[in-house]
Amino acid sequence: MKPNLRSAAAFIALVVSAAIPAHAAGSPAGAADSAARRLVGRMTLDEKITLLHGSTGGRASRAMGNEVNGAGFVPGIARLGIPALHETDATLGVVGAGLDPAGPKATAFPSGLALASTFDPDLGARMGAIVGQEARAKGFNVLLGGGANLARDPRNGRNFEYLGEDPLLTGVLAGAEIAGVQGQHVLSTVKHFVLNANETNRKTLDARIDPAALRESDLLAFQVAIERGRPGSVMCAYNRVNGPYACGNDALLDGVLKRDWGYRGFVMSDWGAVHATDYAVKGLDQQSGEQIDDKVWFGDLLRQAVQDGKVPQARIDDMAQRIVRSMLAVGIVDHPPQPSAIDYKGHAGTALEIARKGIVLLKNEGGILPLATHAKRIAIVGGNAQFGVLTGGGSSQVTPSDHGTFDTWVGGQNELGDLRKEGWIRSSPMDALKAALPGAEILYDPGIYPSDAAALARRADIVIVFATQHQFEGADVPDMTLPRGQDAVVAAVAKANPNAIVVLETGNPVAMPWADSVKGIVEAWYPGQEGGQAIAHMLTGAVNPSGHLPMTFPVDDAQTVRPDLPNLGADTHADVAVDYSEGAEVGYRWYAAKARKPLFPFGFGLSYTRFAMSDLKVSGGRDLAISVTVRNVGDRAGAAVPQAYLSSAAGRPLLRLIGFRRVELEPGQSSRVTLTADPRLLGHFDAAANVWKIDGGRYAVTVGQSSASAEITGQATVTARTLPAGWHPDESAR
Ligand code: GLC
Repeated sequence: MKPNLRSAAAFIALVVSAAIPAHAAGSPAGAADSAARRLVGRMTLDEKITLLHGSTGGRASRAMGNEVNGAGFVPGIARLGIPALHETDATLGVVGAGLDPAGPKATAFPSGLALASTFDPDLGARMGAIVGQEARAKGFNVLLGGGANLARDPRNGRNFEYLGEDPLLTGVLAGAEIAGVQGQHVLSTVKHFVLNANETNRKTLDARIDPAALRESDLLAFQVAIERGRPGSVMCAYNRVNGPYACGNDALLDGVLKRDWGYRGFVMSDWGAVHATDYAVKGLDQQSGEQIDDKVWFGDLLRQAVQDGKVPQARIDDMAQRIVRSMLAVGIVDHPPQPSAIDYKGHAGTALEIARKGIVLLKNEGGILPLATHAKRIAIVGGNAQFGVLTGGGSSQVTPSDHGTFDTWVGGQNELGDLRKEGWIRSSPMDALKAALPGAEILYDPGIYPSDAAALARRADIVIVFATQHQFEGADVPDMTLPRGQDAVVAAVAKANPNAIVVLETGNPVAMPWADSVKGIVEAWYPGQEGGQAIAHMLTGAVNPSGHLPMTFPVDDAQTVRPDLPNLGADTHADVAVDYSEGAEVGYRWYAAKARKPLFPFGFGLSYTRFAMSDLKVSGGRDLAISVTVRNVGDRAGAAVPQAYLSSAAGRPLLRLIGFRRVELEPGQSSRVTLTADPRLLGHFDAAANVWKIDGGRYAVTVGQSSASAEITGQATVTARTLPAGWHPDESAR
């Protein structure tokens, strides 16, 4: 598009965009920052204030002249060529209709846990690019994506939006998603900063944790995501963190994010997460969704605070500067959204690819999978499998571009109870299986009565039970049991027919009291709009499963850090707290430290072929690096995910994922994988000195295909190092 050079801003933006790559929102203090400073220097106080508070989307913003139907709207400054911010959700696809006359439909991707199960950052980047492209084509220039909260509680209602329990896996994948979105000149967030690990009482909950442990876990995930994705904005969370609300928490926002990490973008609030004007002097730069808050804290009240000397003018300038700088750095000024055609068919192919690669084969006794082509009568039970696949609910819920949907209302007393419904996509696993197995008779039972299901099971060669667990924003599930008596249905089916397979469509790990009674177990997560096909392709063997668990599957609630869901039954707005006493030992780290054997460990996933590791080399010195050969020793092509774990550091037991790689291998083929550990994973954070400390000594490494399979080990000596709190793998990028 030929740039309009009439306005100074357009000219500056053109210079800026020519000077820095579009996605480099976290680029060195250079072109975007200085251009923003010049622009802010020409603004009146009122113009600056305009940028600092935004409306919810829809009707409220239409009254302000906004026509782009989405989640949020911040007016621009036409005089200076600064566009309005048109904001839409979220990581798993574009939720708002925007300017699209076809309405809110978009590519509905599988859950974040499915993407995380692929251990494939390139795939995450491709997904981000598609979501960014579709957002831009619908008139949006901000995508409220980049969910990077760690899965600390296996009942958290939004884990399906996130990337699991490990900081490295989460940071790498979230960073890739964000970079993908911003490469399309759409500004991405990373969210929800920080420690938003439960949905129950999310708006009042005080998340308590040792500050050093927070640096080594949730904050490290965000730090890696920001380094890699360079998000134009960080969205602060609803909850409190060690007392102060996250959006008014100067220790986190000013201290960690801006001072220690040198973050130059802007902090936007979550929708309804601002409680005072003085959040402006605690690191918050923009109030979002102001109608949901008690007051427009960053409008007239902020102007008055400046006039009363309670908020320095310099802080207002900095707030505006951060917003404008990110707009310039991501290129939303000189690459405004262009309503354009969307290749939904091509994008659906990527959604199918993620679903296929994200499905995790957990049990395959006697090779019951892939389904024998000679199976003449297959019974399918439950999970609405005749009709479609389940999705997660809330602000991230996408209307699919294809297949259609149907809903089951749920309701309830939790914060979003009035909106809570189970959303299903008409991508039927049963139809896909019929298409894949034309010679088989495929029968269905809805799985409502165990006796009905058992009766059908007795008549079949093989039985596939689909079991589902719905998750929705604003609420955690009370425990890990499969809801609505599904366990009894599985048990009855397994008793009636030993050739039973369970396919799970869940937003979290679930308890499986029937695990020993069935021959096959598959975790398909929320598989997205092409999920029916993906599940059938994996069951029939058209696709070799390659997913690996991004979070531990405990045996049951009793085995978890907090056997009882914190604050279960409390009033939604009660002042409560959760003590995340596990600190940095999240997930597999905690099970190892407590010597507890989960049902299925982090990183676990079976294949229809087999892989072997060999020839591990571990080198030390300043960095800890490993190289290992992985070979496909089976008889069909497949993808391996060798994972390198630190098992002890200078003599101290310390289990940390320090590297992983997904490699596609033909039978007999091998690949040499080389990984270098991020030094922050080797050490500990010294909060008093505000530095990372890596002790000198012997470091032991294991490489395997899960956190519990040390197939090959090695060690090396690492020299002691101290790194600044904001240490960055690429120091030149600061
Ligand atoms: C929600 C969510 C946030 C979302 C925002 C806008 O409450 O917490 O993830 O981006 O509001 O819909």
